[in-house]
Amino acid sequence: MFESSALSGTKSEQYDQLLQQARALMHGEQDRIANAANLSALLFNSLPDLNWAGFYFFDGTELVVGPFQGLPACVRIPLNKGVCGAAASTRTTQRVEDVHAFPGHIACDSASNSEIVIPLVATNGTLLGVLDIDSPKHARFDADDQTGLEAIAAAFCATV
Ligand code: SME
Repeated sequence: MFESSALSGTKSEQYDQLLQQARALMHGEQDRIANAANLSALLFNSLPDLNWAGFYFFDGTELVVGPFQGLPACVRIPLNKGVCGAAASTRTTQRVEDVHAFPGHIACDSASNSEIVIPLVATNGTLLGVLDIDSPKHARFDADDQTGLEAIAAAFCATV
């Protein structure tokens, strides 16, 4: 049984603890659906003020929704659309303080006001997809969140 332990200390220390928990959940497992499902649940239940946390996988043409926590979401996102498409096509993290000001933002859940999307790139350079996290709060994600979530995304990519 998974024992959730409360995160403590500075934000960066909390992300270190979250990374340890993520590594423990994925230990010895290479199945990307299983790892994405557990990571979605871990992030959604550990980080405050989220309304959606999950994965979109690149199928060679567009992004297709994978395991997530939150309300049902749009199934397919072309690489030239939305925050997710921007993260995937540029392979750079998109940290959006106000999604309503982002050109082409795709509103899956009207509660979302800020969003961070991290590209998932395998060690051989293949685009795997994106990790997408939404919040009802404006400017919910800062540079510490970006660093911490990029480390967790890298741990996921290292298992593939
Ligand atoms: N807002 C995203 C779409 C996915 S949902 O947030 C789950 C975007 O603009 O790409």
